[in-house]
Amino acid sequence: MTRSSLKDLDRKHLVHPLVSFREHERRGPTILESGQGAYLRDSDGNELLDAFSGLWCVNVGYGQESIVRAAAEQMTRLPYATGYFHYSSEPAIRLATRLVELAPRSLQRVYFTLGGSDAVDSAIRYIVHYQNARGMAERKHFIALERGYHGSSATGSGLTALPAFHRYFDVPRPNQHHIPCPYPYRSPVGSDPQAIISASVTALRAKVSEIGPERVAAFFCEPVLGSGGVIVPPRGWLKAMSDTCRELGILFVVDEVITGFGRTGPLFACQAENVEPDLMTVAKGLTAGYLPMGAVLMSEAVYAAIADGAAEDTPIGHGQTYSAHPVSAAVALEVLRLYHEEGLLANGVAQAPRFEEGLQNLRRHTLVGDARQRGLLGALELVADKGSRRRFDPALRLSERIARTAYRNGLIFRAFGDNVLGFAPALCCGPREYELLFERLGHTLDQVLAEPEVRAAVA
Ligand SMILES: Cc1ncc(COP(=O)(O)O)c(C=O)c1O
Repeated sequence: MTRSSLKDLDRKHLVHPLVSFREHERRGPTILESGQGAYLRDSDGNELLDAFSGLWCVNVGYGQESIVRAAAEQMTRLPYATGYFHYSSEPAIRLATRLVELAPRSLQRVYFTLGGSDAVDSAIRYIVHYQNARGMAERKHFIALERGYHGSSATGSGLTALPAFHRYFDVPRPNQHHIPCPYPYRSPVGSDPQAIISASVTALRAKVSEIGPERVAAFFCEPVLGSGGVIVPPRGWLKAMSDTCRELGILFVVDEVITGFGRTGPLFACQAENVEPDLMTVAKGLTAGYLPMGAVLMSEAVYAAIADGAAEDTPIGHGQTYSAHPVSAAVALEVLRLYHEEGLLANGVAQAPRFEEGLQNLRRHTLVGDARQRGLLGALELVADKGSRRRFDPALRLSERIARTAYRNGLIFRAFGDNVLGFAPALCCGPREYELLFERLGHTLDQVLAEPEVRAAVA
């Protein structure tokens, strides 16, 4: 099939996530064809440095042959095994065990999903079940952060607090609430870390007391907010929120779908602060995007209340045909081996200062108001006026100008609508990739700034 007919068929039939449908029909797709390491090739033959690891998931880079072999071997031996009716498979058992070994100690039980949205959805369902099972049926309210992202399932999208995921979808529901996020660059209490932490703790307490302390089930948060604009809370924030939840008697759920698997340094971001959550959701880096898989990990207490809340012949009615898929599990086991035994986690930690330095150097650029990062998760926030931190007029469509120009310069990253540029390079990237990334990024910012409409918009 020719490239242009493929593009026409995409316009006609393929529904894409998070686009304006009509705009996509007009614009057409960018078709990716192959990848190696941190580089992608598109159907027009362009080679691109992928500084976003697909969708912050291909943490090991493209073209890892050992993963392909692990998948092929498992597919040949047993391509599918249900987890229903007490069936199981060796890769699923080994993966659950390995995750429990590697995760914070509080987490002892693992339910596998197909990705992050259904991991969040499963967590919500288990929490509701848990509260009913332990005789606390009134505890059905959930609190999350403004600008947080917890996927786009029918319920989880209401914990997400990004306008596009709410508009016309009739969420959030009346039992879903949000408190301000810890956003150092735009915090009303200034940039002092302790003040930001205290503001979040106070907001959580106030929200719980407004709802009624006996009616709140759980608090959900990302250790670093990803899709909300790579917002990096001060160190100590996660621990303070976890301690506050414990004190208030509500479950603390950490959504590590992006931050998990070395993205911020340690295997899980909550381990940097010795946080032991009641539940944790993961996906993306679990299989590094090579196959779909996510998981919800839960504490023994949550599991036990569900387990003991019904007679032994009463099934817990939650499941998916592809839960604990053996091929995905075999891939995840190999991905975990690459992180640990082939040095990818260590390389991510070793390269992080280079990444940080490159971002911080760009603070000098006229367009850049803020540069922030934890591990290999980073962002630049572009502003029209550095002094007042005023954002650009959305009519300028700056993020699209930047994404387009960057692509022409052979660079992919995420240009969010409010002009935050998000970066999540693969853990396998080395000095050459960082050199290229910042060379192409600097050039892109210069070119966009040279556009007369952009120049005119800058203070
Ligand atoms: C923190 C977080 N939770 C949940 C999700 C949803 O995961 P998925 O897209 O795999 O459904 C995402 C996806 O980006 C995420 O970043």
